[in-house]
Amino acid sequence: MFDNKSILITGGTGSFGKKFIKTVLERYQPRRVIVFSRDELKQFEMQQEFNAPCMRYFLGDVRDGDRLRQALRNVDYVVHAAALKQVPAAEYNPTECIRTNVWGAENVINAAIENGVEKVIALSTDKAASPINLYGATKLLSDKLFIAANNIAGGHKTRFAVVRYGNVVGSRGSVVPFFRKLVADGCDSLPITDPRMTRFWITLQRGVDFVLKNFERMQGGELFVPKIPSVRITDLATAMAPQLKQHVVGIRPGEKVHELMISHDDSNHTFEFADHYVIAPSINFVVQHGYDSNDAGEQGKPVDEGFNYASDNNPLFLDIAELKALDQATP
Ligand SMILES: NC(=O)c1ccc[n+]([C@@H]2O[C@H](COP(=O)([O-])OP(=O)(O)OC[C@H]3O[C@@H](n4cnc5c(N)ncnc54)[C@H](OP(=O)(O)O)[C@@H]3O)[C@@H](O)[C@H]2O)c1
Repeated sequence: MFDNKSILITGGTGSFGKKFIKTVLERYQPRRVIVFSRDELKQFEMQQEFNAPCMRYFLGDVRDGDRLRQALRNVDYVVHAAALKQVPAAEYNPTECIRTNVWGAENVINAAIENGVEKVIALSTDKAASPINLYGATKLLSDKLFIAANNIAGGHKTRFAVVRYGNVVGSRGSVVPFFRKLVADGCDSLPITDPRMTRFWITLQRGVDFVLKNFERMQGGELFVPKIPSVRITDLATAMAPQLKQHVVGIRPGEKVHELMISHDDSNHTFEFADHYVIAPSINFVVQHGYDSNDAGEQGKPVDEGFNYASDNNPLFLDIAELKALDQATP
């Protein structure tokens, strides 16, 4: 699917972007792979590792529509991964987060349509489902823009879809590196925000594979949600440091006790497939077949009315032994 294609990744120097590009270069022979991000140092460092002849590095900000329009010339597929994603920073600097996550999304959409890009997948987060913090709210707006973009793309070939998933194991600023540092610094107890807390859990590779597969599946307008396990935060702490006590520090501003991926209100337009769900758009676009089947030939079925997919009602939980194995396998 990606052989001889030109692919651009906004936020290509981030955790997701690097893993995505590594995977694409291992499995396919793309014509061009374009990294689009702001910081020249991150790009310089990435060039030392990723220097295949097809690689291109574009400095640019998703807030700058003109630069995006230049970058997307003759591009076939786009993954939009660039975002500001730290919850406390977004609460403190709301307008900065809106400019990058919402205006940036709009710029990506316009540049993709104007350049006749074939398919665009935007990354979302569980924090965008019934959001309670600014980061989640901006990602929900971004999701809505990408889904609705299939309307304004009428008459153009560009199709847009969204991929939503939960915490990425070991990603920058997340709980695993935080606990690791505390253990390495010789702490005698690990801080737990709330002992009831649960989170969805996905490895970076699974996230990348899910995005790649959804380029095959998408017709335009889908919000794809993978079936992934949950973890109890107390189990994670026990798996990472069984010798340490745990102490409760209280929930942080903008945090939920449990995360939500699909709300009750979305259940009447959600379809279940073998390894994922699809939230269909509330406004139906012209698609070749309904959203209960996809372009990869897979068949889904409607979920029960009132269904919701939350990190505490997930049938799939990782136990302490599985978490320990995952921690040891995570760099
Ligand atoms: N990590 C998770 O746990 C998680 C979970 C669910 C969803 N997601 C979503 O997955 C996506 C990727 O996350 P990640 O973990 O890879 O993030 P990351 O490691 O923080 O990388 C973010 C990337 O975006 C770039 N960027 C930031 N602002 C930009 C701007 N204004 N213009 C252009 N590039 C910009 C950054 O490079 P520069 O700073 O150099 O511009 C960097 O390359 C995000 O959309 C995030 O919301 C992440």
